[in-house]
Amino acid sequence: MSIEIKLVPKQPARSELLVTLVHSDRFSSEDLEMDTQTLKASGFEAESGQIIFLPTVGPQSKGSPSALLGLGESTKEDNGTYRKSGTVLAKAAKGFKQISVELQSVISDDDVLMDRTQAFTEGLLMGAYEYVELKSNTKPRKLSTVSIIGSGRRMTTGMERAKSTSRGVNLARDLVNRPGGDLTPSAFARVASKTAKEHGLSIKILGLPEIKKAKMGGLLGVNRGSTQQPRFVQISYRPSKPSKKHLALVGKGITFDAGGLSIKTSQGMATMKCDMAGAAAVLGTMSALADLSLPVRVTGYIPLTDNMLGGDATRPGDVLKIRNGKTVEVLNTDAEGRLVLADALSLASETKPDAIIDLATLTGACMVALGNEYAGLMSTNTDLVDQLRQASQETGEDIWQLPLPDSYRSQLESEVADIKNIGSGPYGGAITAGLFLKEFVAEDIPWAHLDIAGPAFADAPWGIHPKGGTGFGVRLLLRFIEDLK
Ligand code: BES
Ligand code: ZN
Ligand code: ZN
Repeated sequence: MSIEIKLVPKQPARSELLVTLVHSDRFSSEDLEMDTQTLKASGFEAESGQIIFLPTVGPQSKGSPSALLGLGESTKEDNGTYRKSGTVLAKAAKGFKQISVELQSVISDDDVLMDRTQAFTEGLLMGAYEYVELKSNTKPRKLSTVSIIGSGRRMTTGMERAKSTSRGVNLARDLVNRPGGDLTPSAFARVASKTAKEHGLSIKILGLPEIKKAKMGGLLGVNRGSTQQPRFVQISYRPSKPSKKHLALVGKGITFDAGGLSIKTSQGMATMKCDMAGAAAVLGTMSALADLSLPVRVTGYIPLTDNMLGGDATRPGDVLKIRNGKTVEVLNTDAEGRLVLADALSLASETKPDAIIDLATLTGACMVALGNEYAGLMSTNTDLVDQLRQASQETGEDIWQLPLPDSYRSQLESEVADIKNIGSGPYGGAITAGLFLKEFVAEDIPWAHLDIAGPAFADAPWGIHPKGGTGFGVRLLLRFIEDLK
């Protein structure tokens, strides 16, 4: 159950905990009715993310239990400051049932009121997230209601937006966190179906016969080693007013990546339930489009299979034929994501959308290049890059562009087929993967590829995320789409 967040015009008469947000350069011990010594001794300096619970007895108690939550220096704040505060608060106030937070009074600039309210609410809702569905003994979270003190259209809108985006993020996190043996391709497709129904989206789910008919040789090739049938989900959102723009989103949906016959090590395989994080981000994004009433037509393409090692698995050296007719020599069955994406990108290109963006936990090489926190961005279109960068700055989901040099294309030349699925040397693996994908996107369609292998899954709690699925990409895409109009 998610926590309920309400906007209230003034401090509720009764609140289990009243939280005040404070900037480090704007508060003094007097404001807090606390003597300087006591405050110093507490170590609280109102740094971003710092929280202190004040005594409930004595003159400083203000009658009810209260806490101060630091925002750091007022001149340095951005949306991220508020997102982080929300997350810190959701965790620190876990033991209270109902709390209220003074928010409007600390935001002096009306122009940012909506964004800050959105960020703070997102922080609360993402911070309260826990993946508990498979635990038998968990204490239910006490925190059920947060009243944010403030009023006006800007705050209401920011809060409502946050509810939609966070729901999408938490849906993506749930999907990533579900074990690979549980979230099979058909199970993922069922979640997609339910999501479509709940949010008024149209959906088409292709099973094995339809996938064969659609000539998706990449998806079929990867699926050959599995006892689980593949699925291909196509999910669409049409705004109520006819839109001029059509965006295609493609997400890698490998529900578990064992590597196929080019098997991974046990350590390399341990977190490979996360290999459908691109698909999860696409579904999470689709789920929020209608709630946000975004005015752009969006179609999501999600190829789903696991990458296993059954007796009839694709062998290194086998050649697959992708939907667009190109043949691929598979020299490493662990480079499977690009094979299923090739079919999806080909299909997406056929409808001639205005842009295609794919998200994929595609390469370990991207993590070597950029570490855990940045997604790699590769693109054929500078406007798209600029727009994604802008959105990334607003949502705090970091991306960094890598090049797609024509000169590296020769690394993908095959002796027996049109292209091979791995580069020839040990270097630049994220880029050769990007160059491979580029072959399956129609040349005149602006395209961007986000390699989210690093940020999609947190091996340890990171920033606003708990360990596990992060839902990376959902807020980024939603912001990108919102800014498109
Ligand atoms: N799913 C992996 C990439 C990955 C690695 C995602 C770590 C998240 C964390 C992908 O399918 C893969 O195995 N890629 C290979 C490609 C190689 C064989 C060319 C890799 O990165 O090693
Ligand atoms: Zn792989
Ligand atoms: Zn993979």
